Amino acid sequence: GQPHVARKEGSLCVEDLELETLARQHGTPLFVYSQQWMLDALAAYRRGFAGRDALVCYAIKANSSLGILRVFAEAGCGFDIVSGGELARVLAAGADAAKVIFSGVGKTRAEMRQALAAGIGCFNVESEAEIDVLNEVALAEGRRAPISVRINPNVDPKTHPYISTGLKGNKFGVAHDRAVAVYRHAAALPGLQVVGIDCHIGSQITEADPYLDAVERVLDLVQAIEAHDGIRLHHLDFGGGLGIDYNGDTPPAADALWQQLLARLDARGFGERRIVIEPGRSLVGNAGVCVTEVLYTKPGEEKNFCIVDAAMNDLPRPAMYQAFHRIEPLALRADEPTVRYDVVGPVCESGDWLGRDRDLAVQAGDLLAVLSAGAYCMSMASNYNTRARAAEVLVSGDKATLIRRRESIEDQLRTELP
Ligand code: LLP
Repeated sequence: GQPHVARKEGSLCVEDLELETLARQHGTPLFVYSQQWMLDALAAYRRGFAGRDALVCYAIKANSSLGILRVFAEAGCGFDIVSGGELARVLAAGADAAKVIFSGVGKTRAEMRQALAAGIGCFNVESEAEIDVLNEVALAEGRRAPISVRINPNVDPKTHPYISTGLKGNKFGVAHDRAVAVYRHAAALPGLQVVGIDCHIGSQITEADPYLDAVERVLDLVQAIEAHDGIRLHHLDFGGGLGIDYNGDTPPAADALWQQLLARLDARGFGERRIVIEPGRSLVGNAGVCVTEVLYTKPGEEKNFCIVDAAMNDLPRPAMYQAFHRIEPLALRADEPTVRYDVVGPVCESGDWLGRDRDLAVQAGDLLAVLSAGAYCMSMASNYNTRARAAEVLVSGDKATLIRRRESIEDQLRTELP
């Protein structure tokens, strides 16, 4: 899907509300999310899975704010978590623990105990060493841990190297050629119950081909694993990764992609198997915008700078991945000429930019919206330069709910000792 903003009488809106009004009320930088965009994105996946046994587990690392999690919990979603902290968040949001899967290469024993006590649906284990530790922890707790082994299918998702995860050189998953041996070993351990298999090949994927390749490779493995006595994989988890439109990107629609993938599963006789997926970005990315105020414009010999009150601590994706986010003025200065600016934040780093070479007609005091800011922005925000984390508002129709107040300096100092 595309960014969820529209101009009404020249003024940029999310659903029925003007961003300008929300920014005046709550201050800037301010994240604003459309609930309808999230529910529509979820509905697209569910259309793709119509008539199938499928579970969408929202990967909360994309945006783990409680107000967002509640939307998905109420819609009956499962959740993909990667830490004990994320487990506490989804439980606080009312998640059904049985629909929670726990991914990640570095689960601690304490996190394993916490997840066993909560009764999560599946541990997606990522190494042979983790399998043995989880077995030990489960036996000590008098439980059996449901597991799936994350397979590294060694396919190229054709995305940014920092967010491609399914290649041999990545730290994630168990190598394809070790999979059968690993499953045989796991199935023999009394503290574990083998329930599934999973893979995740990367993020911001804009083509169907890498998924089709991964599906084929996982199904080859399912056949090989199940050729051994007693192992039956109840669910197949194909991870997340579907991209969104940041700058004219054209990822396949979730329903179309899944119809295509399910056809492959059917063709190979796996159509009845339970499907699990772990989308993050594609469920929230274009639901959100970040509203920021222009503090100064600063003309220069080589570059003109538009200095705004949001920075890399609020929106780390440009600094970290040279990611592109569209930047739109809330109100248009239609008769004024545009100037080419680098839009930068107040943080003391040259890497603190939000957009480069953007043609804008702006003055100090104007408000800008950084688009596609629903995923991997607030959840990656930091307090660098002792900057407060921003406030967040969830919009549904003409109703706005503040789901996170702006952080205060007291919030930031609270954990520090005199
Ligand atoms: N499952 C696993 C095991 C993952 O590692 C991830 C994301 C997902 C699911 C969800 O992927 P998604 O559907 O959101 O692509 N910070 C980066 C993205 C990091 C993705 C990490 N893993 C960014 O801002 O682009």
